[in-house]
Amino acid sequence: RHASTLPQRSDRFNKLTKSHIGELRKLVGSSSSILSTLDGSATEDDLKTYNNDWMNKYHGKSQVVARPRSTEEVSKIMTWCYENDIAVVPQGGNTGLVGGSNPIHDELIISLSSLNSVRSFDPVSGVLVADAGMVLESADGYLAEKGFIYPLDLGAKGSCQIGGCVATNAGGLRLLRYGSLHGSVLGLEVVLPDGKIWNGLSTLRKDNTGFDLKQLFIGSEGSIGIITGISILCPRRSSSTNVAVFSLSSYEDVQKVFSETKTHLGEILSAFEFFDAASYALVRRMQKHHGEEPKKVFEQEGDFYVLIETSGSNAEHDEEKLTNFVEHLMTSEMVLDGVLAQDTTQAHSLWSLRELITEACTKLGAAFKYDLSTAPGEMYDLVEQMRARLTEKGLLKGDWEGDVGAVVGFGHMGDGNLHLNIVAKQFSEKIQDVIEPFVYEMVKEKGGSISAEHGLGSMKAPYIGYTKSETSIEMMKQIKQMFDPKGLMNPYKYIV
Ligand code: FAD
Ligand code: MLT
Ligand code: ZN
Repeated sequence: RHASTLPQRSDRFNKLTKSHIGELRKLVGSSSSILSTLDGSATEDDLKTYNNDWMNKYHGKSQVVARPRSTEEVSKIMTWCYENDIAVVPQGGNTGLVGGSNPIHDELIISLSSLNSVRSFDPVSGVLVADAGMVLESADGYLAEKGFIYPLDLGAKGSCQIGGCVATNAGGLRLLRYGSLHGSVLGLEVVLPDGKIWNGLSTLRKDNTGFDLKQLFIGSEGSIGIITGISILCPRRSSSTNVAVFSLSSYEDVQKVFSETKTHLGEILSAFEFFDAASYALVRRMQKHHGEEPKKVFEQEGDFYVLIETSGSNAEHDEEKLTNFVEHLMTSEMVLDGVLAQDTTQAHSLWSLRELITEACTKLGAAFKYDLSTAPGEMYDLVEQMRARLTEKGLLKGDWEGDVGAVVGFGHMGDGNLHLNIVAKQFSEKIQDVIEPFVYEMVKEKGGSISAEHGLGSMKAPYIGYTKSETSIEMMKQIKQMFDPKGLMNPYKYIV
């Protein structure tokens, strides 16, 4: 979908006017909860952070942002929107990567950022109940003080919100250990499109009384309601964490090491991430752009890298296990070189080799981002086929000599999730037409998913058929129609 061919504004929705702003203000307790260029309470510049996305790829034209401070205020605003046919976009930390959190036209943005408190925590069950607008890192920091951990971690933790993560069903860096949010979320509080509050904030682990309704909202990307509260099961924080990174010479070896890791480190394994030499080179390139001279990490660099993290409760036992395993790998033919973090600072710096890839892709050019899943054995074929296609079309040449600077592959090996990023000098329809729908056709051929963890948003809404059947899409449309008969919630996206 090109930016120039985004759907036209639908005239089913009313346009917001200055008098509407007055009405909205009466609904909320604080005047600072409504920001609008229509009454001069905000400038266009003030609204840029809400209208534009993290990658600066999607640009909405909303003139009004509401920042409710309670579930009741969200409910009043939604009731009013329902009565007045106003389209809305729920927004969390605005770190989504598929254009789901920004308006396409002039939709009202409802930001959850002022709804950010812990409601309760039970140290026996480990159940946290919190407002949806809490920043992930703050929720995890709160839990850390109590010896617990939030069962989700990702590079955007400093900005993304726990509600936004539930709305996208984010996967992240430790899904391998703690599983998907479909398993750890125990309950939700949601404001429905007509303003009704659904209190589904259960703290029970087991409850087989009818349909499990909360599951519909996990990964619903703001299409059927606004999540305002979350109840989530949080595990104990491990007292001992270790990190090692290895260089390898082939993707086949990455798979071998993954199997070996599961055999040897099974119960303490908490992450298994991989990245290729092009990703590593991109991070080094960004560090140089920042004026840093990147430190040498490996004696012998490779075509691939894996990061292994262990977390357990017995430091001595875990260290011994990991050290023996590192020795086993180093004496085998499977790895070229390896580094085992000696302290927390080194562990952070090894993690940053992996976590900085996203930033490097976006800072060094315009990143066409594809978040795909297939059987792990077939994942890297997608990167190789894409490189071959872009080379054949004359777009990828030498070291940043073509319109495309780099094609990188990295991701969550343990989850069969590849991030294929094509870093171009600038966004262009010509490049996009070479990539799409080719990329989706490759994935379909392998029986994979065109969106493993980032969702559909505006970017992938038209392509859902590459992964889902006609019958599945029909059922989804019926669900959307049932919750949101006026189609007010996050229009033009997700299910279109
Ligand atoms: P937003 O971006 O604001 O919104 C995302 C979607 O959810 C939108 O459709 C929005 O309308 C909807 N939404 C937001 N809040 C609510 C709510 N309260 N109720 C209903 N709908 C809502 N994703 C992964 O899965 N794994 C990763 O490892 C990962 N790493 C990332 C690293 C970086 C540096 C960045 C920038 C992003 C990364 N992401 C990752 C993308 C990921 O989708 C987001 O970080 C996160 O899930 C979105 O949270 P958010 O609060 O920013 O939501
Ligand atoms: C990651 O795993 O780093 C994220 O999903 C973000 C990205 O794909 O760039
Ligand atoms: Zn990811």
